[in-house]
Amino acid sequence: MSHSDSVTSCFTEHFQSQPQFLATAPGRVEVIGNHTDYNQGPVIGAAIDKGVSVALRRIDERAFRFASSDFPFVETNDSSSKQNGDDAWANYPLGVYNALIRRGLQQSGGFEIAVKSDVPSGAGLSSSAALELASAKAFCAAYELELSDKELAIACREAENEFVGVPCGILDQGVSAFGKTGHLVHIDCREIEFSTIPLGSEYSIWIFNTHQKHSLVESMYATRHEECFEAVKQLESLGLDISYLADITPQQFEAHKDRLSPNVRKRAEHVVCEIERVKQVCALLAEGKVSEVGGLLFDSHESSRTLFENSIEELDYLVSILKSMPEVIGARLTGGGFGGAAMALAGEAFTQSYAQSVASAYRGRFGEEPDVLHCQVSEGARLLSIS
Ligand code: GLA
Repeated sequence: MSHSDSVTSCFTEHFQSQPQFLATAPGRVEVIGNHTDYNQGPVIGAAIDKGVSVALRRIDERAFRFASSDFPFVETNDSSSKQNGDDAWANYPLGVYNALIRRGLQQSGGFEIAVKSDVPSGAGLSSSAALELASAKAFCAAYELELSDKELAIACREAENEFVGVPCGILDQGVSAFGKTGHLVHIDCREIEFSTIPLGSEYSIWIFNTHQKHSLVESMYATRHEECFEAVKQLESLGLDISYLADITPQQFEAHKDRLSPNVRKRAEHVVCEIERVKQVCALLAEGKVSEVGGLLFDSHESSRTLFENSIEELDYLVSILKSMPEVIGARLTGGGFGGAAMALAGEAFTQSYAQSVASAYRGRFGEEPDVLHCQVSEGARLLSIS
C-alpha cells in the first residue's frame, strides 16, 4: 500500500471521513557531524526512504484530535497545552502547530490528524523530526501559510526545543526538510544554510538497529550539550574569544586543552575534530571521491567511543565488523548515540548476504540479531496528492 493510501485509511478508520491534505517526510541518518549541530558546526545527513505520513482535516469545532496506529488516540480543546504520559506523542504536531501560529498561521476551529510511520522508532532515525515536518507541510497547506523549507525546519526545531523539551540542533529537521534523492544534505548550522551534495545512486545506507537504548538517553544527550557549553566557558576563561566550539580551530584547541577539566576536554576534542572531519568529507565529496570518505566515518566512531563516550559495546562491535569488510565504505553510530543504530555507507558490492553475515556475527556475540534496514537516499518533506 502506498504512503497516501495507508495514512488515508488510518484517517478514515478513526474519523469516518476523508482527509483534506496529505503530507510525508523522511527519517534521516547522520552521515558525519556527531553533536556538531548545536555547537554551530557543519553536519552531513541523508534522508532515507522510510518516513512518517500524516492526513489532516480542518474542522469547525474547537477540538484537536490525533490518531495513529502506534500510539493512543489524543483529544484536547486546548492547543497550547502540552500532553503528558502516553499522550505525549501528540506534542510533535501540536508543538509545530504552535510554532506556525507564531509565524502567522490564523487559527480557527480545530483539526483532526492521522499519523502513519514506517521509521523504526528508537533507532535514532528521527521519526520525531519526520512527524514534525510532515505535520508542518500539512498545516501550511491547510491554513494557506507560505513558508520556505528553511523556515519550516527552524519552526520544527523550535517545536522540539520548546514544546517537546529536547535541546536538539537543526540536523534532524533540516535533513528531513531538504532531502534529495541520490544526494546528501549539508547544513552549515551557524548560518543555517542548507545545500545538497550529489552522492550517486549506486551508494546506499545500511542501518543495523541494536534495539539497545540507554535508559537515561534524553538526560545523557542534555548532559553532553551542557558539557560542550561548559568547554566554551572554560576556554573563554583562558582568554579565547569564542561563543561556540565551532569558533575554535583544532590548533587553538590543542594549545589550550590541557587546562580544561578532563571530561569537558574529551567532549570538546570530539566536537572540534569532528567539525574538521565534516569539512574533509565535504572536500572529498566535492571531488566525487565518495569511496575515500570511509576513514573519516570510522574515525568519527572511534572518537564517539573514546572521547564523547556516546557509543555502546553493541555499536562498537557492529562498526568493527563493518570496518573489516572491504565492501563497506565507512560506518559509525548515527545520531545522538547511547544506543540506537550503526549506519554503513556502501556501494553496490555490499549486498543483503553481507548484511546478513554482520547480523549473524552480532547474534553470535549478543544472542539476538540487530534489525537490518537497507535505505536509499531519498526526497525530503512534501505534500502528497489525494487519490
Ligand atoms: C540527535 C539530535 C541532533 C544531533 C544529533 C547528534 O539526533 O536530534 O540535533 O545533535 O543527535 O549529532
